[in-house]
Amino acid sequence: MNNIDQSRAKRVFGWFDQRLPISSLWRTQVAEYPAPKNFNLWYIFGSLALLVLVMQLATGLFLAIHYQPNPHLAFWSVARTIQRDSHWGWLIRDMHIVGASAFFVLVYLHMYRGIMYGSYKKPRELLWLIGIFIYLALAAEAFLGYLLPWGQMSYWGSAVVTNFVTAIPGIGKPIAQWLRGSFVIGLPTLNRFFVFHVFLMPVLLLALVLVHLIALHQVGSNNPDGVEIHDNTNESSWPRDGIPFHPYYTVKDLFGVSVFFVVFFWFVFYRPDGWGFLLDKLNYTPANILHTPSDIHPLWFFLPFYAMLRGVPNKLYGIMAFAGSFALLACLPLLDRNPIRSIRYRSVLYKLNILMMPASFLWLGYVAHGFATEHNMVYGLHVTEVFYATFLVLPFFNKRRAIGATVAWLVATEAVVFLIDLWMYSIHAHGWALMLLTDWIPAAYLLLLFGLAILFPALTRDTQHLPERLTAGGIFH
Ligand code: HEM
Repeated sequence: MNNIDQSRAKRVFGWFDQRLPISSLWRTQVAEYPAPKNFNLWYIFGSLALLVLVMQLATGLFLAIHYQPNPHLAFWSVARTIQRDSHWGWLIRDMHIVGASAFFVLVYLHMYRGIMYGSYKKPRELLWLIGIFIYLALAAEAFLGYLLPWGQMSYWGSAVVTNFVTAIPGIGKPIAQWLRGSFVIGLPTLNRFFVFHVFLMPVLLLALVLVHLIALHQVGSNNPDGVEIHDNTNESSWPRDGIPFHPYYTVKDLFGVSVFFVVFFWFVFYRPDGWGFLLDKLNYTPANILHTPSDIHPLWFFLPFYAMLRGVPNKLYGIMAFAGSFALLACLPLLDRNPIRSIRYRSVLYKLNILMMPASFLWLGYVAHGFATEHNMVYGLHVTEVFYATFLVLPFFNKRRAIGATVAWLVATEAVVFLIDLWMYSIHAHGWALMLLTDWIPAAYLLLLFGLAILFPALTRDTQHLPERLTAGGIFH
């Protein structure tokens, strides 16, 4: 660009800038946004999730151009028109499929980062809660989109989930009927799922993400030390441990984007179905309403919740267990009231418990991946109890406990598990052998956690030396 072109470009930009707050928004929200200087790898997943959101919207737009929301045409409009007949259709579709799973990987990591560093604590409770709503909207978006290719698993998966909804007393049946638009899954279902997937949920997601970012910039970012940088500012009110988001973190995020793209496009080009994990193998067959598959299960990111629904031997209680897991996440600011935010300065047993959260979640996914045998269902129930326990024991770590109180926690939690199991077996007797085979899992976890706390009280001690300023790990120190 020569000098004349440059000054013309400046004038055009100036014209817009006088009428829209472009440069002031860039300055206040990006270039001069004070970010803690010790952001680590865990802090790139938010930006990457944002990137994937944009990619999903863009690829989805092109898919919608050729897609036909009609049971007679849907499968072939995807498998033939998009995948083979339209230019780059295969690439756009595969990016959308891999993008859906990438979105969940990133959001799960992003949420876990928040749990590790206590980003749900004051003053970020609302930011966290908005995040939970984003997750729910994302889950709904994925569920709705899964029906669209009208494959075997699309059809039967949606049938199972809408069937679960009928178990909600009073309103369940009307909701399921409204969702299906009929008594069975058919043309009205596909039409409304299409509209919700391409219009309603994306708008909702975008709005929620915008509010999420506004809330973030209102309270400022947390960091791996959990130390509030705004509590220590210089004469010009700039946090002493803060650095401008641009260029430091824009560059860091761009590096993250390049690594992410290498992995993402490897899947897109070489394994778009992710060995059946990103797209079920059964979905290469058109839906057949007269043939129920021998095993129906959702994609990997919903498997842990499926284990909960399947494990509890009553549909309604299963739905409650499923909904309860979100309630637990939403209630984290109430459950964990310890003033120390970051896991770095929390006790050994707290760390063990925080590690057990994703471990039991993955474990649930593993269990749900197996066939719906009686053994796997009971197994799922007990691992669900472990997942719940990792949240419900959090108040124990809010302050130092005497040995007597720790013993009381052990007895009380074991008793609760025992009573729940008794209740579950009264609903559906699985037989003693099966019960003994997996019943010990939650009991053993609680015994390990509180047993170690009783034997070695030092393991429950948080750090004595909480830093007042940020420690190493960032660009500057
Ligand atoms: C579409 C999904 C999402 C997008 C695009 C998104 C985007 C972002 C971005 C860009 C940031 C700032 C950068 C960072 O801290 O990584 C952020 C921060 C945050 N997000 Fe999200 N987010 C999403 C979902 C969620 C979910 C599901 C939760 C939790 C349930 C959540 C909780 C948080 C919290 C607590 C912070 C502040 C973290 C801190 O300062 O330590 N977000 N989000």
